Amino acid sequence: MKALEGVRILDFTHVQSGPTCTQLLAWFGADVIKVERPGTGDITRGQLCDLPDVDSLYFTMLNHNKRSITLDTKTPEGMDVLWEMAKVCDVLVENFAPGVLDRMGFSWDKLHAVNPRLIVASVKGFGPGPYADCKVYENVAQCAGGSASTTGFRDGPPLVTGAQIGDSGTGLHLALGIVTALFHRTRSGLGQKVDCAMQDGVLNLCRIKLRDQQRLEHGPLKEYSQFGDGEPFGTSVPRAGNDSGGGQPGRILKCKGWETDPNAYIYFITQTPVWGAICDVIGEPGWKTDPDYAKPAARLPRLNEIFARIEQWTMTKTKFEAMDILNVHHIPCGPILSMKEIAEETSLRETGTVVEVDHPLRGKYLSVGNPIKLSASPTEVTRSPLLGEHTNEILRDVLKFDDSRIAAILASGATGATEAPSRVAAE
Ligand code: COA
Repeated sequence: MKALEGVRILDFTHVQSGPTCTQLLAWFGADVIKVERPGTGDITRGQLCDLPDVDSLYFTMLNHNKRSITLDTKTPEGMDVLWEMAKVCDVLVENFAPGVLDRMGFSWDKLHAVNPRLIVASVKGFGPGPYADCKVYENVAQCAGGSASTTGFRDGPPLVTGAQIGDSGTGLHLALGIVTALFHRTRSGLGQKVDCAMQDGVLNLCRIKLRDQQRLEHGPLKEYSQFGDGEPFGTSVPRAGNDSGGGQPGRILKCKGWETDPNAYIYFITQTPVWGAICDVIGEPGWKTDPDYAKPAARLPRLNEIFARIEQWTMTKTKFEAMDILNVHHIPCGPILSMKEIAEETSLRETGTVVEVDHPLRGKYLSVGNPIKLSASPTEVTRSPLLGEHTNEILRDVLKFDDSRIAAILASGATGATEAPSRVAAE
């Protein structure tokens, strides 16, 4: 039995943040029913397309293991069906712009009155406050949540990161909120609202930078390169380049081949317990006892010099050769892996973290599987649904509508075309 078997999700999500949350719940065994607008569906079906008339990878990689029903919720018949779904589902998940659900007439009060056990989970860009009504996408959240101002090099502009900490990060937070509310419901018998703001989710992931903001009030941040460079700190946490965010100084260093390979680099951490081994490996055994290098505090003003010396050594090895040597000595380090290398990494295939999925229109493609491994509830990744693929079976098997009621709904146009189209371009 899957961990969330028996839990039914009304998935009213779109784009990335909400779909990542419901995909996780589906991987854990929940029956996730994605409600989509007839004709277009989730806008990502038609965005960043690499093949004609096929759901985009953007969509397929965020909507595995779900079922799809098309419903025009701006028709009375569509709205009726949605209310019936709210009665038989355990959780409604949505990430529309602020106010959309209320405009549909789907307020928390009404939903709670109709189904007191229903959990209503929402992603919004901001929580209550000056920006509560704003629409938000990934990079806006990274900027407003403290990530952009602390990412990049100090002589350059703020940078956004490739990791989707605003969208997928908030989806993860929301999934935890939902399973927590499900657990709470086993004792209270009642559903509740679960709200995650993307700004809050990003800030939660930038916690160490708020830590540094407060440390800054008591003196310079000595593990930042800026300190070794003798450049004064301002009043807010600066961008720290590739400096480690923890108590063990680290840097990205060049490896053999860096002149032509943009990813021939390694992250190298000068962890205190293995400092002696580091000195031996790089050929500086004298640093083990030299008072300028032996103790962590003495090393802090000299990190640029120390890492330059370590880099002389790493540049003589490929990143994988360096890994092999350093790991023997338990020196924490990691290769900079390109997406190509990750896609080809066999160990990630073996654990199901990278999976090959077959899609009837697209054929085989790679996706990221479930990064959370449950021993008694392993994840099997199945393809994303075609638009409206399960409309009829949901009306019949989930909502238990009889043939005449189903015929009336279909005839009303509330579900759009009865034949599921492969994809309709939404761009
Ligand atoms: N049938 C009919 N109408 C539907 C529908 C359906 N099945 N599903 C949605 N709609 C309508 C809604 O009723 C709404 O219409 P309204 O504005 O007339 O009330 C509209 O579609 C949805 O609008 P909205 O959420 O504003 O979409 P958008 O494309 O303009 O904005 C976002 C997209 C992501 C910016 C916005 O949804 C948002 O800020 N979401 C919260 C934060 C978030 O999750 N952002 C990250 C996305 S990865």
